[in-house]
Amino acid sequence: MADSAGSREDSRAWFTQARFGIFVHWGLYSVHGRDVWSMYNEQTPLDEYRRLADHFVPERFDPAGWAALAKDAGARYMVLCTRQHDGFSLFDSRVSDFTSTRSAAGRDFVAEYVEALRAAGIGVGLYYSLLDWRWSAYFNGPERDPEAWAALREYVHAQVRELCTNYGRIDILWYDGAWPYGPEAWGSAELNAMVRALQPHILINNRSRLPEDYATPEQRIAPAEPGRLWESCMTINDHWGYVPADTNWKSTTQLIHNLVECAHGNGNYLLNVGPDPQGAFPPEAVTRLREMGRWLRANGASVYGTQDARDRRRIGMVHTFPTVKDNTLFTHVLKWPGKELVIGNLASRVQRVRFVATGEPIAFRQEGSRVFLSGMPRYAPDPHDTVIALECDEPPRRLDRHA
Ligand code: GLC
Repeated sequence: MADSAGSREDSRAWFTQARFGIFVHWGLYSVHGRDVWSMYNEQTPLDEYRRLADHFVPERFDPAGWAALAKDAGARYMVLCTRQHDGFSLFDSRVSDFTSTRSAAGRDFVAEYVEALRAAGIGVGLYYSLLDWRWSAYFNGPERDPEAWAALREYVHAQVRELCTNYGRIDILWYDGAWPYGPEAWGSAELNAMVRALQPHILINNRSRLPEDYATPEQRIAPAEPGRLWESCMTINDHWGYVPADTNWKSTTQLIHNLVECAHGNGNYLLNVGPDPQGAFPPEAVTRLREMGRWLRANGASVYGTQDARDRRRIGMVHTFPTVKDNTLFTHVLKWPGKELVIGNLASRVQRVRFVATGEPIAFRQEGSRVFLSGMPRYAPDPHDTVIALECDEPPRRLDRHA
């Protein structure tokens, strides 16, 4: 979390440093375990959908535990869905009675979440869907019934105001669901001006259909143009919400590799988990997060606060992405080659080589732009990604063979 007195510039620097966040999709859709879009896909009438709230009485919701797990995973922030497209708010709202405070749960989960994260020093992110499927105005659009649309927009602005007023400092506002309408329809410019007046340091994503602070490629790693902040959000299995039938968990190695690929392109990785209706993270997710944390504790220097290394691709191993900080090139070895490893295309002079996890030096010799590492273990020291640091005499430069 950035300094509480910090400016928006400080927040941007904090975001780059942070690299890794946890996205949490949790709400009424967790009860039936058929994901966030079930209400739409199954055309569930509102009266029927509302009944899920009678069964949403989480007994294991422990935001301090979530924050501790995030910390153990090496994540620096979390983003919680405060209201998904289904319209159910996990916070108290003067403009809606479809909330966790006015239903069986009787609790303001956003308040508890924010407090726990802040206490743990984890950055506080709030997701908010502009669209709400309960409103026919959303489907009719701003043209057909401008008055009804104005009421929807007023409701949305009021809720965003509540989120930015009632919970103290918020680090990230993560909009979603503006489609198919543009920023004029939602009044996004006014909305975001209000948000910034209330939370001057806040970072806002690009999903109110205005660019704001950062881009949000979804389910893929797609860097924004150099200089622009970005964050790839991705599911840990194949769904955003809790779907017990979905056992297609990404491997820890894959998750680490995704994080490294984001860091290589100077972006963040927002990894999503769908807690069960009681509020517990699925055990398969917990295991993976803890393994990521173990790897990050040993190798975090190659991820946190690294710089844009896109122009350094092809220095190092095939099928991995080097990361860079100042004069150091980090080679991420996913497929351990055995006792010797060759790194080509490096125009800078290497001064020292070491394993990042242990600091143990590695013997090397450099012939022009080729670096030969020798005397290494036969088997991979780290099954996920062994990171080797090459300290150079300048910020590592790639040999440009096209010149
Ligand atoms: C899509 C889905 C939404 C989900 C989001 C996460 O926009 O519609 O439910 O929260 O992806 O990025």
